[in-house]
Amino acid sequence: GDTLGTAAAEKGRYFGAAVAGHHLGEADYTGTLNREFNSATAENEMKWETIEPSRGQFDYGPGDRIVDHARGQGMDVRGHTLVWHSQLPGWVNGLGGNDLRSAMNHHITQIMQNYTGRVSHWDVVNEAFQDGGSGARRDSVFQQRLGDGYIEEAFRTARAADPDATLCYNDYNTDGVNAKSDAVYRMVADFKQRGVPIDRVGFQSHFNSQSPVPSDYRANLQRFADLGVEVQITELDIEGSGDAQANNYRTVVDTCLAVDACTGITVWGVTDKYSWRSQGTPLLFDDNYQKKPAYHATLAAL
Ligand code: XIL
Repeated sequence: GDTLGTAAAEKGRYFGAAVAGHHLGEADYTGTLNREFNSATAENEMKWETIEPSRGQFDYGPGDRIVDHARGQGMDVRGHTLVWHSQLPGWVNGLGGNDLRSAMNHHITQIMQNYTGRVSHWDVVNEAFQDGGSGARRDSVFQQRLGDGYIEEAFRTARAADPDATLCYNDYNTDGVNAKSDAVYRMVADFKQRGVPIDRVGFQSHFNSQSPVPSDYRANLQRFADLGVEVQITELDIEGSGDAQANNYRTVVDTCLAVDACTGITVWGVTDKYSWRSQGTPLLFDDNYQKKPAYHATLAAL
């Protein structure tokens, strides 16, 4: 294949991008997206503050814009994200335990049923573990009010809402073997053992000089795969430039291809110009939509 998406498809994988709906009117943005990628993730449009800004009031417009575009191009859509401590509207933080439990379950159910048949992959819970060596759960409003069981409850609710959807746990700084990924690993092992529905684990893979591509990336993805889940690289970006950045992208692609259960890679944006970390120029296309060395290395590795 001579694009990222077609080359990945030849390897039985997808190659996706995070998409911001407000850039879809820009011809170079949309042209690059349509040409190169065969999967899309809404960068912000399906997050709680956007999709349910007031309790029980759902606004599917921003998400629909991306879903309609992606499906019109034959792309799969990854739904991102149902339960997360960030980009959460204030009303959620004000709820007591029982109310929060019903609000969480209602949120998951309404959104998944709205998108049934159009969005069949979901990040059900995002970033539920703390950084650092403790292996503890993040001290989110969900953790505080509902306790450890909220993650399991979210996955069970998601399975019931759309039994055909694939359900993913997604996190960052879990790419290598470390205390945080150990904690996620124990949770996934427990879920699989007890029959809690989980299909995938997503590894965000936001890399920079403080957080480089880990040497045990492959071993880490493989140990999760050995639990019986798919693994995906869900938010890849790598700060840097030139050959060093290109080599890092090559390593990531090689790693996914070396793990049978690694079914695809999503980069967290189309162009450096609109990256959430634009100063780090972490993506495959520069500000003028020119292919960077990292692009050529990625395509060659696929
Ligand atoms: C980021 C978006 O890229 C930004 O536009 C937004 O301001 C903040 O969120 N982990 C995730 C993503 O799961 O949803 C985040 O996206 C990046 C980190």
